[in-house]
Order: sequence, then structure tokens, then C-alpha cells
Amino acid sequence: MRSIAFINQKGGVGKTTSTANVGACLATLGKKVLMIDLDPQGNMSMHLGVDVHGKDSSIYQLITGKKEATEILTKTAISGLDIIPSDIDLASAEIELVNTVGRETIVKFYLDKLLNKYDYVLIDCPPSLGLLTLNALTVANEIFVPLQTEFFALQGVSKLLQTFDVIKKRLNSSLEITGIIPCMYDSRTKLGIAVLDKIKEYFEDKVFTSIIRKNIKLSEAPSHGMPIITYAPDSNGAQDYMALTKEVIAQEKNMLKGVKAKKQKTEIREHAFL
Ligand SMILES: Nc1ncnc2c1ncn2[C@@H]1O[C@H](COP(=O)(O)OP(=O)(O)OP(=O)(O)O)[C@@H](O)[C@H]1O
Ligand SMILES: [Mg+2]
Repeated sequence: MRSIAFINQKGGVGKTTSTANVGACLATLGKKVLMIDLDPQGNMSMHLGVDVHGKDSSIYQLITGKKEATEILTKTAISGLDIIPSDIDLASAEIELVNTVGRETIVKFYLDKLLNKYDYVLIDCPPSLGLLTLNALTVANEIFVPLQTEFFALQGVSKLLQTFDVIKKRLNSSLEITGIIPCMYDSRTKLGIAVLDKIKEYFEDKVFTSIIRKNIKLSEAPSHGMPIITYAPDSNGAQDYMALTKEVIAQEKNMLKGVKAKKQKTEIREHAFL
């Protein structure tokens, strides 16, 4: 099971669009996927056609102990794609949980048994590095950072990296940044090209080669409660997110090689010891 948090404290960079569409593409390719909406805006839930507003059935009820995970787990219209939805109720959670022991791991605590039933767990985060995002970083073992290929793309990234370091040291030693997603790319502008170069210079091989181009269909799809793969399967947006998803799956070959190399090293060391 891979669990991936899509984070960037900057607003409107493509976090929700990327989480929802990568999740939908993974499910279309036959994977079992759990989506966790940790943003009180509830955008990902609505993007996937799930509106829990006023139904007392969001992740807020789970983390305040009012409902079980199985009671709020919702199926989407795409086979294999389930969601723990969110709505505006979640906005008060950061304040309500401030004196709770283990507040950074409360989502993991309540969802732990569910997570292993899936091949992928994808978490959409709010545009802040507050308690909800910290919770995402204790559930996840990977971080994807969507970056808008605009002038201020890298502003605030050092703060994000600092937060990552602290969480890795203190709360989740297995956490790694495994992917940077360039979003809303416009190859017709010099700025877009220049910013993409800067992003690659900064993050080197962590940047996915599949780049998400600006595409009007991607901005229309959420209002229809559909991911791009069902809303406009022939669009550039659908092509870009499917290519990205295949790259995400392909990462597993390298991960497996890494694990094998580590195992081999340990065996050699043990052999030398004996
Ligand atoms: N590649 C794209 N082309 C065109 N529009 C896009 C693209 N990606 C995202 N958008 C649109 O840009 C807006 C912001 O995207 P999105 O909601 O994914 O960002 P976000 O980082 O999740 O925002 P927030 O920080 O508010 O949660 C949305 O209206 C979305 O539909
Ligand atoms: Mg969002």
C-alpha cells in the first residue's frame, strides 16, 4: 500500500485537481484507491460527485469520535474509488483538537484498519501547514508537491521542506518527498518555460516528466462532479493525468529495486559478521 499526501500551503496550485484525477486514473487502471479529503473546503469530495454537506457524515465526525470509519466511507461513481469525504464542519477541528493528546496522529488512529485494504491512499490537503496537513503527513509515507508553473511557484517551498524535515524526525521517519507535479503549464509563455526549468533545477529528478498543461476541461470537470477521465476522456487534461498516473505506478519498480538493494546489503553485512 502506498499512501501519498498532496501538499503545498500555497492556495490554488492544483492539489485537489491532481489528487482527484490521479486517484480516478489509478482506479480506472484497476487499482483499489482510498481518497481522504482533509480540506474543509470539501473540493475533492465534490469533484468526485460526493456532497456530504449537512449530512453529519464527513471526516469531522470521524476524528471527533462521533462516527466509525465504515459509516462515513463512501463509494464514488468510479469502481474501486472510495472516499472519506469532508465538508466545512472540518474547519473547526483544528481548534477543537488543540488540547487533544496525539492530535497530529488522530486521522491515522481512526483510519488505520481501513488503509491496508487499498493499493493506494491519496490525501488532499488544505492550503496551510496546520494540524490537518500534519495529520496527512503522519498517515502518508510519501509526499507529492503540485506546483503551479507561475512566477511565485517556489515561494514558500523552503517552509514546506522545513515542515517535512520536522515531521520526518519527530513523527514519521518513513516519510519521503517522491514527486513534484508541475501544474497548469503553458508552453506558449516564456515564463512557464522558465519556471519549469527553475523547478527542475531545484528538485532535480523528483520532478515528474509528465507535466499537466493548462486545460479548460480540467477546470470544468469539478462542477459536473466528475474526474477528467470520465468528463472529457479525450482532452489534454485526461491524457496528462493518465500519463502522470502511469509514471506514479512505474515509480514502484525503482522502489522495489531500492528495497532489494537494501536487503542485499544487510545480507552481505550479516554474512561478513558470521
Ligand atoms: N491544469 C489546469 N488547467 C486549468 N485549470 C486548472 C488546472 N488545474 C487546476 N485548475 C483549476 O484551478 C483552480 C485551482 O485548482 P485546485 O483546486 O486543484 O487547487 P488547490 O491547490 O487544490 O487549491 P486550494 O489551495 O484552494 O485547495 C481550480 O478552479 C481548478 O479547476
Ligand atoms: Mg484544494
